[in-house]
Amino acid sequence: MDELLTKDNLYYRDLARQIADQHIRPLAAELDRTGEYPWSVIKALQEQGLMGIWIPKDYGGEGAGLLNLCIMCEEMSRACGGIGCTYVVNALGSFPIILGGTEEQKKKYLPDIAEGKKLIAFALSEKDAGSDAGSLKARAERVGDDYVINGDKKWTTNGAAANLYTVFASVNPERGTRGVTAFIVERETPGFELGKREDLMGIRCVPVNETHFRDCRVSASQLLGGAEGRGFKHAMMTLDVARPFVAAQGVGIAQGALDLALEYTKNRQQFGRSIASFQGIQFMLADMATQVEAARQLVYAAARAVDAGAKDVSKISAMSKVFATDTAMRVATDAVQLFGGYGYCRDYPIEKYMRDAKITQIYEGTNQIQRMVIGRALIREGASA
Ligand code: CAA
Repeated sequence: MDELLTKDNLYYRDLARQIADQHIRPLAAELDRTGEYPWSVIKALQEQGLMGIWIPKDYGGEGAGLLNLCIMCEEMSRACGGIGCTYVVNALGSFPIILGGTEEQKKKYLPDIAEGKKLIAFALSEKDAGSDAGSLKARAERVGDDYVINGDKKWTTNGAAANLYTVFASVNPERGTRGVTAFIVERETPGFELGKREDLMGIRCVPVNETHFRDCRVSASQLLGGAEGRGFKHAMMTLDVARPFVAAQGVGIAQGALDLALEYTKNRQQFGRSIASFQGIQFMLADMATQVEAARQLVYAAARAVDAGAKDVSKISAMSKVFATDTAMRVATDAVQLFGGYGYCRDYPIEKYMRDAKITQIYEGTNQIQRMVIGRALIREGASA
């Protein structure tokens, strides 16, 4: 379906393919083993000016929009789901500033992120506040011209690599989600502590950490948007635009798994012929390819809706995330099946796709939460129709 892509889309896709071939594919298996961060890929992205393509031009980015970011993420994840994640999680961390920051905050932080000088992470979830993000326990108290943050965050993706964090804490627990307030916290701030790194099933090159705030004092100028109580909305608005790029990660992983399965089944000989010549195998490949293409088009539709400034993108964004990431898991599992016993061994690259796919159904809102978002939107629309 290249016909539907613009020159710009093809430009970013080609650049991402080059980076995937030169820098990601040769590293993917090693980083999966060692858990090291893909600094050389980040450097290559920096050199090409790609670290903040989603950031508006006024703040040093390319203003390239969500579809181009999704295309980049898809191509990178086709080579390695973990490395794709290390890239787009900077968009997750920076969207609260883009969508809700003051002019001063945008000017202060976005240019360094766009240049790749600073990496940023998103600290919303906690041990007991995952799907129910609004029940977070981190607190922020105004003290003079500052806020003092106390609390413990979990699942801070890119935690150990980031220099900046958008942190969500409540200034008034009695107000529920209306007390939640976001802050931009710099890593060097006294009272910020990087905690335990999780030992993950997949995306193993991504440092996912606990982050702790112990009397962590930030100036009131770090209060996102300059007003208390808007944090939950900022988080939800961010997730609405972020879910399509997790969905794109799913499409990339699924396409990468399909590429490998196709290659393998064409070469693998059994009963005196290539196994791809059997109809049973062709039907599996056909279903996998159909699902990947359907997922891709839904993700692009969601990203185009955001880029077109559509008013309410929660439903289409959640739909893209559910469909593409469920597809990633199904296609990667079928790809392992097509490799037979070899698919189950670490000597072959395919099992990594299955491990990497799994997280996409879980993070940035489990796929059960996405269905809740879709269901609520359907009922809302139905009532107003
Ligand atoms: N945009 C703007 N505002 C929104 C909104 C949206 N999409 N969704 C809800 N809101 C507003 C509501 O209008 C409401 O505002 P008022 O107080 O003014 O009425 C307020 O937010 C509360 O809304 P709800 O009552 O609907 O909130 P809820 O508590 O029922 O939660 C939820 C809704 C959709 C389940 C939400 O909690 C959610 O998305 N949970 C999943 C969280 C998640 O995705 N976490 C992943 C974090 S990132 C990660 O995984 C790690 C990583 O780094 C990759």
